[in-house]
Amino acid sequence: MEKTFLMVKPDGVQRNLIGEIVSRFETKGFNLVGAKLMLITQELAEQHYGEHKERPFFGELVEFITSGPVFAMVWEGENVIATARQMMGATNPKDAAAATIRGDFAVTVGKNIIHGSDSSESAEREIGLFFNKEELVDYSKLM
Ligand code: CMP
Repeated sequence: MEKTFLMVKPDGVQRNLIGEIVSRFETKGFNLVGAKLMLITQELAEQHYGEHKERPFFGELVEFITSGPVFAMVWEGENVIATARQMMGATNPKDAAAATIRGDFAVTVGKNIIHGSDSSESAEREIGLFFNKEELVDYSKLM
């Protein structure tokens, strides 16, 4: 079953949006298979956002993502990678449709509430950066 990495960023945690965001993915029908509230180290931030290293906003991005706790999650379900991206809305909240997470709760691109993997390769890489295998639930073995 497909998995994706989603993370409520420091602005979302500070604004008490964890419950609202988890609820949207739960009610959609996806399964939460791993989650933790954590502080991201400088090293992890630089690895996670490595593809943006040459961008002018890289320093700002790393500073922001390490500025407070994030809520890191792994979700599972059919087409969860693409569907979660749709539910999050466009990266820049000014382009995000209403009823998407960024459309409803964010204004600026730097503080856009949530991160989600953009491909199966990214999902695998990002899940591996944030979680050990033992931290993920395998429901197929429980049901
Ligand atoms: P995210 O999906 O976490 O992936 C990379 C992040 O870079 C993106 O969300 C934005 O929050 C951030 N970002 C993109 N463009 C800019 C920008 N011009 N200034 C600051 N942050 C940006």
